[in-house]
Amino acid sequence: MERKMQASKHVYLYSTIHTLKQFDGLREECVSILRDKSMCNQLILPEVSYSEKGMELPPRPKLFDFHGVYMTNYFTDNWDNVQNFQARPNDIIIATYPKAGTTWVSYILDQLYFGQSAPESLTTLTERVPFLEMNIPLIPSGVETLDKLPTSPRLIKTHLPVQFMPRSFWEQDCRVHYSNGMWVLYSSSVVFGPWYDHVTGWWEKKQTHSKIHYMFYEDMIEDMGRELDGLCSFLGLSPSEEEKERVIEGCHFDNMKNNSMTNYSTDLVMDFNISPFMRKGKVGDWKNHFTVAQSEQFDEDYQKKMNNSQLRFRSTF
Ligand code: A3P
Repeated sequence: MERKMQASKHVYLYSTIHTLKQFDGLREECVSILRDKSMCNQLILPEVSYSEKGMELPPRPKLFDFHGVYMTNYFTDNWDNVQNFQARPNDIIIATYPKAGTTWVSYILDQLYFGQSAPESLTTLTERVPFLEMNIPLIPSGVETLDKLPTSPRLIKTHLPVQFMPRSFWEQDCRVHYSNGMWVLYSSSVVFGPWYDHVTGWWEKKQTHSKIHYMFYEDMIEDMGRELDGLCSFLGLSPSEEEKERVIEGCHFDNMKNNSMTNYSTDLVMDFNISPFMRKGKVGDWKNHFTVAQSEQFDEDYQKKMNNSQLRFRSTF
């Protein structure tokens, strides 16, 4: 594996660190690393993680109430530019609640649109599918990256709740793929707000906006071929059977887990000894981590909060 990475890669990894792990306090560390490029070349290597270097992972960034939703400054500091983002009619938005299969859907779309033809300079999925609201000091924000993205259509990742979406997406009538699953976080004090609000907010929007495709993680696990057909029909794509098979094969859990483009193995702070990014990819796994009491509390909460919605999830088959 090539040991030296380009400066732009350093910057990108720096952003990935903050985006995925949402750690705070690492900023100063990274800034000095970025200033000293030679040190950067030693540090930012796929096989070197923070834990292996004996560095303690910094605490999570502070959550604060932002127009009624818990957010961190990495997603709000560039707010005006995010809100004024100039969408293009053929932009495809991948909106998800965190940990609800974002990477999976991003890769499916990437493969459908670009297959092997994406620019060579974009070597990881996170480069090909920029994160709209992300804003980390010293590196290009999601908005800046998107403005320069050479691909067409642009695939755009966001975790924003529906009410925070930039207006131009609706004005340009862009296609939005909303992906979710029953990955309930038990706390309501989580970044991007409570799971219930997120999934129901997007569901309500779908009732009046025909260009939202709502897909469930559980359905994808059950029958990827069927879900891919639905997705292609929403996107107006007609891939051959051979192409579809290639996409399904490439996006299979085991293949994505072993693919450095999609498995975050080149991420500096991912400690795969603790947990790989792709852990199990199973439906309802969260239930295994609940006590009986938590499970009962959850069921009660679920009934209460989803009672007025037509939206239905299944945690098992
Ligand atoms: P687990 O942590 O249960 O393994 P996101 O990309 O939104 O952060 O979602 C991450 C979750 O999606 C992880 O769940 C990951 O394994 C799962 N995932 C990613 N690609 C997948 C695939 N091809 N098949 C099944 N699950 C997948």
